[in-house]
Amino acid sequence: MPAKPMPESQEGAAPPADESGQRGAPEEAVTPLMRGIAVLRELTEADGTLSLSGLERATGLARSTVDRITATLARMGYVRFDGRDVHLSPRLMELGNAYMSALRLPALLAPHADALADELDESVSLAVADLDGIRFIHQATRRRAMSLSFRIGDLLPAERTAPGPLFATEWTATDWQRWRHRRAADPRDLSFTAVPPRRSGADARYDETFARRTQEASTNGWSLDDQLIEPGLVAISVPVRAPGTGGRIACVASVVSHTSRHTAHHLRTALLPRLRSAVRAMERELDNTPPPEPGPPASDLARWTGASKQQLGREFIESLARGLTVLTAFGEDRPELTLTEVARATGLARATARRALITYEHLGLVAQTGRTFTLTPRVLSLGFPPLSRTSLPEIAQPHLADLTSRIHESTALAVLSESGEEIQYTARVATARVMSVNITVGTRLPAYATALGRVLLADAPAGTGPQTSDEGVLASARSRGYALVDEELEEGIRSIAVPIRDRSGRVVAALNTAMHASRHTPQECVTDLLPELTTTATRIQTDLHTASRFTRVPAS
Ligand code: PHB
Repeated sequence: MPAKPMPESQEGAAPPADESGQRGAPEEAVTPLMRGIAVLRELTEADGTLSLSGLERATGLARSTVDRITATLARMGYVRFDGRDVHLSPRLMELGNAYMSALRLPALLAPHADALADELDESVSLAVADLDGIRFIHQATRRRAMSLSFRIGDLLPAERTAPGPLFATEWTATDWQRWRHRRAADPRDLSFTAVPPRRSGADARYDETFARRTQEASTNGWSLDDQLIEPGLVAISVPVRAPGTGGRIACVASVVSHTSRHTAHHLRTALLPRLRSAVRAMERELDNTPPPEPGPPASDLARWTGASKQQLGREFIESLARGLTVLTAFGEDRPELTLTEVARATGLARATARRALITYEHLGLVAQTGRTFTLTPRVLSLGFPPLSRTSLPEIAQPHLADLTSRIHESTALAVLSESGEEIQYTARVATARVMSVNITVGTRLPAYATALGRVLLADAPAGTGPQTSDEGVLASARSRGYALVDEELEEGIRSIAVPIRDRSGRVVAALNTAMHASRHTPQECVTDLLPELTTTATRIQTDLHTASRFTRVPAS
């Protein structure tokens, strides 16, 4: 039954009955925060997009509640609207990034996983335990078209994977009990949306053999997945043990292949030795890494809490925004925080921070040990899998649409071809006006003749691009930070472009607006359009930098 919208004064109160499907929520849990998390998780399960009415159905919340939650998430930059559709935004990845940076394993071990994938020309993944599941924290993918490949943040049932039995060697009686309960409640694995459902009956052996596979994993120190997820998909795994913990498993490294390349047996005989030596290198890396220096507390997290309700709009649910801020208080140099530290970092009242932490613990997103709190891998279920597959053109598209609606001119994104001689359009938003240049995504133009190309060439390593290029033109684009090309490519067309830089500062794309020359003088392009282009480029870059912190974002 859909929940009734709550009057403002009760927003922080726990629901009288259980409308949101949350059974046994503690008294002090923050209802709007639970609902906001439910909305984010449904959007994630739906691959990043749902209509408002789809969200209403999926969450069981009243439409007015869905409206206010999504409006609040949109204000925070975590979702965006496109008509009646709600899309997850790259900025949401800052929640998963908080977990990933606090965990440190992705930053420390990903280079080793990537090197092994290159050496073997096979996919290599890193996974952590998430209750009775495994969750991926890194993927070095060489997957061919033959089998499905998992995303960072995807959750798999332990008993259908190679890492599962290794993690299960550390399970307590309570953990086995939890696993049996889950198996009984979800016999076909329908709650694991990343894997194909079990065929009824035939796949029962996964459960029967799980205890034995766990026993073998304990003896052997490795574990196999011989097509437990889908026909053809095989994997071999070795645990990476954390230093100074008496050999506890920090994560599990896997080599994943297809039976057309390796049988499970062959994985063990041919690839296991190399996987093992890569894991030894990972363990040395962890051993040699000093513990994090407690850094300065996160700041600027209170950006929502100071603003008045009036400024933020009637639809804005402060308790949701405040609660989400708590997750971003964690990070690389602050992996464990006390309540006092969370309150200080977020600028929230102690009681508010405490109730948010209670809510998160109930939802399994935060774990408490003694007086300290840590994020759990489940934080990755808040948008990470679909968003970890976003490309730069997808990130840029809504920003281009915004820019076009502000300046009423066509806008586009382009990258440099491998030779450096051409640009290729990767995204474009046209105005209704007809232009003589008929450009679509995929169109190639000579780089040197275009503003987009000059911005890209200005940053390209020496020797890229046509030899005839005039260094002066490129030097000017470099020093000014933009290029303006006036009627060079085609009579009557004027274009101005700015660079888009990755986290390292390298130019990976260029953003432009192009118009008929009669629309703006060159001077107007610089005084009126350039600031708008720069603002948009900064927004695209901010999203790109958030999205690419732990995942590779293709430029095209
Ligand atoms: C993967 O990384 O895709 C993977 C790892 C272990 C498995 C199956 C797939 O058992």
